[in-house]
Parts: sequence; structure tokens; C-alpha cells
Amino acid sequence: MIQSQILGTGSYAPKQILTNRDLEQMVATTDAWIWERTGIKERRIAAEGEATSDMAVVAARHALAMAATSALDLDIIIAGTISADMPLPSCAAIIQAKLGAMRAFAFDISAACAGSLYGLAIADQFIRTGRAQRVLVIGAELLSRLVNWSDRSTCVLFGDAAGAMVVGPARAPARGLLSAHLHSDGRAAGILSIPGGGSRFPPSEEMLARNMHKIAMNGRAIYKFAVRVLPESVLEALNANGLCAADIDHIVPHQANARIVEKVLERLGIPLEKCWMNLARYGNTSSASLPVSLDEINRSGRLKPGDLIAMMAIGAGMTWGSALMRW
Ligand code: ACO
Repeated sequence: MIQSQILGTGSYAPKQILTNRDLEQMVATTDAWIWERTGIKERRIAAEGEATSDMAVVAARHALAMAATSALDLDIIIAGTISADMPLPSCAAIIQAKLGAMRAFAFDISAACAGSLYGLAIADQFIRTGRAQRVLVIGAELLSRLVNWSDRSTCVLFGDAAGAMVVGPARAPARGLLSAHLHSDGRAAGILSIPGGGSRFPPSEEMLARNMHKIAMNGRAIYKFAVRVLPESVLEALNANGLCAADIDHIVPHQANARIVEKVLERLGIPLEKCWMNLARYGNTSSASLPVSLDEINRSGRLKPGDLIAMMAIGAGMTWGSALMRW
């Protein structure tokens, strides 16, 4: 059986930095509150006129260059995003045109913060079956346009960024993605949502006045959900491969909140030093978080051939999952 491998990674974050101190001037919050509860110090904010596909294309070009892959070699483009340039067409179609990847078919995934992990798992299936040789998986989010900047319980959490991975057949035996495990529980849809702007509550003056087009969240419910299902999901991946937590060399998580990551690792008995953390610099960048983290750890030179990497992500839906990969 062909295994898939990540052949190149790339990332992009806008230049403008919004610090916790800046937020103190905008809502009733403090640097200390945000840092202690979330592990976030600052986040990036896209420039006026910059859209999600603009960020995604920069990340994608970096990933393609590392993979020594031309855009014309791409068979599929998958974009995990909840903040596409527009509701129709997909962000992936716009990215395809900008890259000139005219052999590829392109589509978006709506799995929120788990979007790039879902994308990676789908790419893996196409590679394993031999139906694709090169898949570009992107996680790109421009959440600064989706948060209510007067709601201190959400606006301090999120940031803008894009990450990309080029996936292809593994170049050596026993390398690449070992398995991916995806889950959803739509019964928890209400704990994290953008309730307005779709078919249930189409755009209207009332919908806008009530900020229903902005992110609404029950933070405590998300925390409890995440620290329950993420350890289960990583154990599921380890069990599926006859491995144990001590075998993991690196954890690459979706970074929603440092407290969530710390609790999950504590439950798994994995030391925090094995986890790549950039939450302090970027905040929660949703589907971008995992590929941006992977790109940073990759470019840091810390990944050695054969290292075991565990990835985990959770997002609105709820959606979540894990993957194990031999670098
Ligand atoms: N600054 C100061 N005070 C605040 C702020 C803020 N930014 N936000 C909320 N508070 C206040 C609340 O109003 C409340 O005040 P009250 O007691 O007077 O009513 C108090 O702080 C406690 O509020 P809680 O919401 O209960 O705070 P909690 O301890 O649960 O921390 C947090 C909130 C950090 C969001 C936590 O619930 C959490 O980490 N949840 C996970 C949510 C998350 O990560 N979401 C990201 C998206 S989901 C994803 O990516 C998977």
C-alpha cells in the first residue's frame, strides 16, 4: 500500500500585530487575564483589502517550493476554511486560479479548526489509492473579520494566518502518514457557531444588529469537550499503530488555548517540551494553526527522518481528530 507523506510545508502571517496591551484599549480586559487563561500574548491581523485566498497563496507557494513541485503538478487543492473570500465560489477555486494550478480540482472543507486535519486525511486517501500524486492541503483563516470586537470573551482569542502542506506518495518505506482518525458530534453545534448569514438566519438588518454574523462561543463547554475527546483521539491513533505515548517525538496541535493543550498532554503523560507552541504569537488561527505549527517546527530543523509526530485538532461542529506520521 502506498503511504502519503508531507513533502513541503509553508506558512504566512500578516505583518500587523495586535497585542494584549492593544486590546486593553478596546475592551474591558487585561494582558494578565488573557495570558493566564489562554497563553496568548499577541495575534496577527490581515491588512485592509487582504483576503483569505491572498494569505493562502503565499503559504502555498512556500510549501510548493519546499516540495520542488510546480502548481501545474497539483492534482487536488483542498482548503480548510470558515472564512473564505466569499460564500461562493470556494476559496480553493480562487486559490487554484491564483496559483495557475489548472490540472487540479479544488474544494473547501468546512470543519473549522479541524479543517486542515480533515484535509490531510482526505488527501491521504487519494494518494493511497493512487488517484492523486500531489495534493495541496491548506488551512487559512481571516478570523479578525468574523469576531465581534466588542465581545471580550471571544475577540481576544483569534488571529489571522495561513498554512499549507504538499502531500504526495512517501519517498521511503515506513515513512509518512501512518493513520488519521476523524470524528464529529453535531449535537454540540451550538457551543461554537456563527449563527447568522446562512439559510437559517439570512442577512437582514436584525441579524446584523444582533451580531449574529460573528463568532459566538461557550468557552467552558468547549474546554470540557476538548480535554475529553483529544486524549481519546490521540490514544486511538496510537492503538491503531501498536504505539504508545512515549513513542511520540513531537506533538503538533491545533492551538486553541494553551490550557487545553497542557491538560491534554497531562492526560496523555506527554511532556510539554515535545509540543510546538506558537499560540503566544498568533492566538487561535483555526484551521491554519496546525499547518503553520508544522511549518515552523519543520523549518526549525527539529524534525529528524523517522521521528514520530502526533497531530491533533478540534473545532466547531464539533469536529476533531488525530493523525500519526513518521517524518
Ligand atoms: N478579559 C477579562 N475578563 C473576561 C474576559 C476577558 N477577555 N473574557 C471573559 N471574562 C470574564 C467573564 O465575563 C467572566 O466574568 P464574571 O465572572 O464576572 O461573569 C469571567 O471572566 C470568567 O469567564 P469564563 O468564560 O467563565 O472564563 P473561563 O475561565 O472559562 O475562561 C476561556 C474563558 C479562556 C475562553 C476558557 O473558557 C477557554 O479556554 N475555553 C476554550 C475556548 C476556546 O479555546 N475557544 C477557541 C475556539 S474553539 C477551538 O479552536 C477548538
